[in-house]
Amino acid sequence: MPVPTRVMSSALQAVSLRCEHLENPLGIDVARPQLSWALQGDGRGRRQCAYRIVVANDPDDFAFETRLRWDSGRIDTGECFGIHYAGPGLKSCERVWWSVRVWDEQGQSVMSDAAIWEAGILDPAEWQSDWITAPLAPRGLRAPGREDSFEDIGWLRTEIGSSPVTYFRRELRLDKPLRRARAYATALGLYRLYINGTRADDRAFAPGWTDYHQRTEYQSYDITDHLRDGENVLAVTLAEGWYAGYVGFTPRRRGAHYGNRPYFLAHVLLEFEDGTRSIVATDGSWQVTLGPIRYSDLLKGELYDARRELSGWHTPGYDGANCFPAEIGPDRGGALVAERAQAMKIVEEVKPVSVTPTSTRSYVFDLGQNMVGHVRLRLQAASGTTVKIRHAEALHEDGSLYTENLRTATAEDTYVCKGQGIETYEPSFTYHGFRYVELSGLDAPPDLGALTGRVLMSAVPRTGTFRCSSPLVNQLYSNIVWSQKGNFISVPTDCPQRDERLGWLGDAQVFASTAAYNMDVSAFFTKWMFDVADAQLPDGAITDVAPLLLFENGGAPGWAEAGIIIPWTLYLHYGDSAVIDRHWNTMVAWMDYVARHNPTGLRQNALNLNFGDWLAIGSDAPRDLIATAFYAYSARLMADMAGILGRSDEQDEYSMLWSRIRGAFVEAFVDDDGAVAGETQTGFALALAFDLLPDNLRPVAATRLVENLEAHDWRMTTGFLGVKWLLPVLSRFGFSDVAYKLLLGEAFPSWGFCIRQGATTMWERWDSWTPEHGFQEEMNSFNHYAFGSVGEWLYGYLGGIRPDPHRAGFQHVIVAPEIQAGIGWCDTEYLSRVGRFAVAWKQSDDGKIVQVTIPPNATATVHLPAGKKELVSESGSDLDSATGVVSSKEQDGQVVVEIESGEFVFNIQNCMRKNA
Ligand code: BGC
Repeated sequence: MPVPTRVMSSALQAVSLRCEHLENPLGIDVARPQLSWALQGDGRGRRQCAYRIVVANDPDDFAFETRLRWDSGRIDTGECFGIHYAGPGLKSCERVWWSVRVWDEQGQSVMSDAAIWEAGILDPAEWQSDWITAPLAPRGLRAPGREDSFEDIGWLRTEIGSSPVTYFRRELRLDKPLRRARAYATALGLYRLYINGTRADDRAFAPGWTDYHQRTEYQSYDITDHLRDGENVLAVTLAEGWYAGYVGFTPRRRGAHYGNRPYFLAHVLLEFEDGTRSIVATDGSWQVTLGPIRYSDLLKGELYDARRELSGWHTPGYDGANCFPAEIGPDRGGALVAERAQAMKIVEEVKPVSVTPTSTRSYVFDLGQNMVGHVRLRLQAASGTTVKIRHAEALHEDGSLYTENLRTATAEDTYVCKGQGIETYEPSFTYHGFRYVELSGLDAPPDLGALTGRVLMSAVPRTGTFRCSSPLVNQLYSNIVWSQKGNFISVPTDCPQRDERLGWLGDAQVFASTAAYNMDVSAFFTKWMFDVADAQLPDGAITDVAPLLLFENGGAPGWAEAGIIIPWTLYLHYGDSAVIDRHWNTMVAWMDYVARHNPTGLRQNALNLNFGDWLAIGSDAPRDLIATAFYAYSARLMADMAGILGRSDEQDEYSMLWSRIRGAFVEAFVDDDGAVAGETQTGFALALAFDLLPDNLRPVAATRLVENLEAHDWRMTTGFLGVKWLLPVLSRFGFSDVAYKLLLGEAFPSWGFCIRQGATTMWERWDSWTPEHGFQEEMNSFNHYAFGSVGEWLYGYLGGIRPDPHRAGFQHVIVAPEIQAGIGWCDTEYLSRVGRFAVAWKQSDDGKIVQVTIPPNATATVHLPAGKKELVSESGSDLDSATGVVSSKEQDGQVVVEIESGEFVFNIQNCMRKNA
């Protein structure tokens, strides 16, 4: 046996296999889905040199080359994402297994564990189902074969204007052995699917919110293990949801947005061991009745009367006397598409920290955390006892709930006890934003354990963590994450509590990058970009909100541009060029719309609702400056994205447009001395961030920005649009010390101020509450992520992990922590598509230590705060001899080191004192 001459590291292995950004997805309707994986392995300088993807119809087939469905063959490349399946197209409902072998830098190769994806229903004509609903007939009209009407069993429009949740069931007999079963289901409304009395899965809400007239997402369930020989029951609860319930601050009649009552649709595929198939679809044979949920509305809350529970309605053997045949609805028109993102689920629980009795015999629980979801109640009381559960984000001084900011969103759940021992209750189809919960109607004081907060969100995986030596900054970080949890509910909403909760584009674009650090939002934003495209107006205008509702106008500057900025952000974070390609025409139509109205390059027309730097305080950046800055930025991103797609003509055109707008911007808004019109923080921040100023004026403008901040006593005057860019611009131009001042500031207005007032989520406004004025009287949310866009700076600058646009998807990163006085240490991690990055730094009197972890197959340029190379060592070696260090140099007062993958510990001595 030959003796190895060097120690071999264990072979690199592909892990975290993803298909269309999802783990083992069922029900994909993309013909050539994108595949990706991360790499795992020890040591430095690890990289993938080649891959081979194999796709099989059966996992046993992997062993036989001739039986493979698709074999990419060995491809010599380091690419590990954005690889499109190119084998024979899947048939509807078909499952494939896939695995990837990677060859590492030592020529070793290992096959990954297998993953799957499964096709959904690919051809709309395959749906054999009817939309079904409750037979809402005028009183007196009888359902066939019935003496009574649906109204007689309690159909009512309650005082809140909502209708009861309807309970559907359908029996199903299996007479031969089943191989597999799938349910494809959706609703115009919200539904839950049960098989033989058990939930088909743990989705909290389905389907998500889309413009149902255009597109409705269906869900795919593997229900094989739920079914059994003989009698089975498919059952569904159906609520009004976004389709027919209250949405936004509408003065319109309930249900006017999409439709007046909810509908359900299902297509259940049964495949038997003998090779035959059958389909059970929604049709007139389904039965429907009413049950304990008297209504359940997203904004208003739920009324649950436990005395009306239908024992056994979703299991075989139910007598069905109170059931009616379902009514078949008209074909609802919009396309049925497979669900694109993670489902909405309960992702965690929050326990109350105190309970306080009030003078009105109610009890106020404090959960200690402003959260979004609902509560689970555990109680014992006599039959008919009616418990009211009210929710609020804050309290008045007298301890009563502050609910003024909810406007018409009642956010009140009611439970009527059945009086049989301990009862537990949690609502099904509503959610609230709250920290405080008031219980009333109990006959005995509740203990702290009576109630648990259940956190609901689109269950996107966490990817980022951040901690540093400042408790204030850690609280800010926590508030940012909680506001993302609370507002990523099918669409990125502005707020979770009042009668609004809309997918505002401006908020989403400023927060997108922070969101992508915190969590894997690739699938979530992929889905939402369809909503943005669906909302686009015929003249090309991208809108202010998506799905389109209430604000059916073209978008304001800084809002509509989400249609361009979010695909770019997805590219930057996940290397996803497919999303750019998919929405290219949407983006071009928007650019054409702006150009048509603004031929000079200055964006002065078609500004629509022109919100400006929304909720800025103490200053108002000129709106035409903001508009033109965003127009320029969009042109530049378009040029870059055209380059990525290989559209070279358009790349040239957009580059020219970018120069032209930039020229017009400078002429209109910039003086020779670097002053930017209006002299506002936002004006300077946008001009510098978007590279709109001539080179020679940039440092001057940056200095003017700092002077402006100083003149404001180191306080911000920025609103939604400016705040995102302020700290990154300061750091970029060498003023991280000033960025620290803003970050650590506690005087009004600042993040620290809000935290000192007890904020546990991001406030909508700097002055949502002040000691002088109390609660802000206009729209006022305590859970609005826009000012949380500073999260990007926490990860990218304070922590120091930034994507490199030239090698997007974190194949190469810039590691450049901003280490200044005021923070002693900082630990940041980011789980990218490629693998796990980490930077941990600490400073002491002797110097600084910067620990950097780069996953296999990625590289980094590390900027270290050291004037001279001699002051830096890596794990005890000098930089020139350290393994994994490709090169190092002194540049602009820093030491810049190129590294390969692995774990590195850089030690930086403080400057040696002369004569020391
Ligand atoms: C929303 C915002 C939104 C804004 C538009 C507000 O009502 O809450 O977050 O961006 O309107 O100016």
